[in-house]
Amino acid sequence: MKISIIGTGYVGTVTGTCLAELGHQIVFVVRDTKKRDLIPSGKSLIYEPGLDQLLEKNLARISTTMDLPDAIRKTELTFVCVGTPSNDDGSINLDQIRDVSHTIGKSLASDDEYHTIIVKSTVLPGTSETLVIPILEKESGKNAFVDFGFSSNPEFLKKGTAIEDFFHTDRIVIGVNDPKTKEVLEKLYQPLNAPIFATTIRTSEMIKYTSNSFLATKISFANEIGNLCKKMGIDSYEVFKGVGLDARINPHFFRSGIGFGGSCFPKDLKALIAHARTLGIEPQILTAVIGTNEDQPAKMIDLLKRHLDIAGKTIGVLGLAFKPDSDDIQESRAVPIIQALLKERAKIIAFDPVATENFRYLFPDVSYAKTAREVLDADAVLIVTEWKEFEDLDYRNKLVIDGRRIGKAHKEAVTYEGVCW
Ligand SMILES: NC(=O)c1ccc[n+]([C@@H]2O[C@H](COP(=O)([O-])OP(=O)(O)OC[C@H]3O[C@@H](n4cnc5c(N)ncnc54)[C@H](O)[C@@H]3O)[C@@H](O)[C@H]2O)c1
Repeated sequence: MKISIIGTGYVGTVTGTCLAELGHQIVFVVRDTKKRDLIPSGKSLIYEPGLDQLLEKNLARISTTMDLPDAIRKTELTFVCVGTPSNDDGSINLDQIRDVSHTIGKSLASDDEYHTIIVKSTVLPGTSETLVIPILEKESGKNAFVDFGFSSNPEFLKKGTAIEDFFHTDRIVIGVNDPKTKEVLEKLYQPLNAPIFATTIRTSEMIKYTSNSFLATKISFANEIGNLCKKMGIDSYEVFKGVGLDARINPHFFRSGIGFGGSCFPKDLKALIAHARTLGIEPQILTAVIGTNEDQPAKMIDLLKRHLDIAGKTIGVLGLAFKPDSDDIQESRAVPIIQALLKERAKIIAFDPVATENFRYLFPDVSYAKTAREVLDADAVLIVTEWKEFEDLDYRNKLVIDGRRIGKAHKEAVTYEGVCW
């Protein structure tokens, strides 16, 4: 199929590149010349293991343009992958979705062929039906589900394993309203051999928020239990190993520690909370999930203070990305930790295998090490991201406060504190 991808950020680039690997012709619609010129050389501007190699391999099937109407005319299917960030109050900002809907609608007006629009961006339930589709219909003068196809197809990729997730997904969720669009999507995803859950558009949008809310809840729950375990001298990792054996519960996402970050969980939870309030519902669990997550990084500083008077000391920080195999520092727990250390007048030496440059932009005055080893010379070491290479360091004679459970540090450090164990 000929497919245009609007929004060549993380989701758009991964989706388009993986669809090219399945044999489709992909047109990436970009807004800046840097991306337009880089993608044809096999560089995505996004840090994701395996992505640039896959892009390079499929370049013959990939083109890039800044001309959205032309991309619509030249393709039969369009994925909308633009950003849906937070407003200052946590509510969802739909500016990119609104703008792109107007442009797509106008382009559909002059497109003689049947076209299918698929929204992959995370949007609150009802957004497609009350915002996107009305704009598309008004601008195009056409009727959705009759003159053009429409679907919501939320994305569940995880940063760091996105390619693997695309090709071996647990399920594909499609929100559909007409048999033709359903058929188009089933045909598109058939090679992935994954269960396709077809439901209403509104329900598919809610599935995405419910998934992220549940996963975030599981983490904050693990952290609350972990905090209790710490006080009682119990290893929360052992507890969750035992609990996870229950088939009703399952062992994933029970890593207690310093909490979640990234571009999705905090943003999507806050958007759902803000939306719930507009509906007159106070979402007590979701609010507590965010509260626990925000309190968790401070636990590291409290533990450090038990062993060291921080002022004037050099504190090593291992890991700045919100998770390993990613350069994303959005809502990374490293941010409040570094802020707290600076407030305590510590000298900081920090290291991350790939996220240092992004972090330097936020904290230009922190010292950044070129290797993880250099960080170990500090008076104390805080482990903030569970990069695999941190398992290879020599922690003997070190004071380590571990937010992520690095096994070797746990075993070796002369003074060791785990946040929840
Ligand atoms: N990043 C993730 O892990 C992830 C996972 C699942 C779902 N999502 C959701 O997917 C959506 C996209 O996320 P992302 O991380 O890729 O966002 P992103 O901000 O990295 O990318 C969005 C891109 O869209 C571009 N864009 C906006 N309007 C455009 C237009 N009119 N024409 C062309 N390009 C346009 C922006 O320039 C940007 O490059 C969001 O709704 C997000 O919540 C993200």
